Amino acid sequence: MRIASLPGDGIGQELMGQALPLFADVATARGHQFEVHPGLVGWDAYDVYGDVMPEQTWAICRECDAILFGAVGLPKRDKTLPPELRPERRALLPLRREFGLGCNIRPVRVRANLTEISPLKERLIAGGVDLTFFRELLGGEYFGSRTQDPAGQWAQDTCRYTFEQIALVARQAFIMAQTKRWKVTSIDKANITGATGTYWRQVVQAIHDAEFSDVELEHLYVDAFNLYMITRPKDFQIVLAPNLMGDILSDGGAGIAGSLGLLPSASLNPETGYGMYEPASGSAPDIAGQGIANPIAMFLSVALMLRYTFKDEVAATAIEAAVDQALLDGYRTKDIANGGEFVGTTEMAIAIRQRLQL
Ligand code: IPM
Ligand code: MN
Repeated sequence: MRIASLPGDGIGQELMGQALPLFADVATARGHQFEVHPGLVGWDAYDVYGDVMPEQTWAICRECDAILFGAVGLPKRDKTLPPELRPERRALLPLRREFGLGCNIRPVRVRANLTEISPLKERLIAGGVDLTFFRELLGGEYFGSRTQDPAGQWAQDTCRYTFEQIALVARQAFIMAQTKRWKVTSIDKANITGATGTYWRQVVQAIHDAEFSDVELEHLYVDAFNLYMITRPKDFQIVLAPNLMGDILSDGGAGIAGSLGLLPSASLNPETGYGMYEPASGSAPDIAGQGIANPIAMFLSVALMLRYTFKDEVAATAIEAAVDQALLDGYRTKDIANGGEFVGTTEMAIAIRQRLQL
């Protein structure tokens, strides 16, 4: 079980520092042998190699089965590079493309007895919310052509989707829906983007009808869904979305759960099992180095790695349960403390690891 560990920028460093002992706990209890291969990405890499994603780091990723990623990007330094050499477009997107990570999974949960963490009113979330975003990760505006009029009069990004890109992420969403007997809500803007929006809807429906006709499927326009997600979040389970819409909606979902610091992310190649796992919180330079970042998104990302790449459902569930237990026992980091008392990154991580039952 070879893991490339790429902490990157900002709070990526301190979060990775908490994940490594967690692997040690799991290895001991489950008899696994994790080989952790550290690599530089982002500004640490730039300071050594003059490149935010050097060849050395590519080599490490290629010889591993999965990547655990911290975060990249420091706005002040990013501005000093042309856009295509900045961490997002030089490291993140190429990693997704190189390893064929077309399916991005982001689970958002509001536990029934932890609704106080959510900013939504109790009546909207009573009984808990359980949303899982399946975001397409290799198509749409993220990988389309970008053009700008040299005279500065117009700019254009293109949105392109292939059948296979849509089918790949749709199948993963339907498989989970089938297992859990959940509904799939597919998102588009087919009323306006007549080409890609309509195509998205058609392909999702075709995969459904051919392979998953027992699964409940609904199509919603993105603007309507964005409203319903906030006003009646309990009505949704699996949200299947194109790349850019999924990016936007999953941050909103994290807001419903209470904090971006709670949102893990798995980017998968369902054929090879290769995955990149990361907290969706970003580098958060405003709080980096203060020891207050929430380690939960990172711990839940490790759980997703164990589930999807290493197929150890027992360890994955145990980590998720330990996170829940620490929260139930009252542990809060600053982002979820509602102005009340809170613990630091390390204390939270230790509290979770102490509750691991393996
Ligand atoms: C995410 C992030 C990235 C994205 C950025 C940093 C390129 O926001 O993983 O959601 O937009 O995909
Ligand atoms: Mn995002």
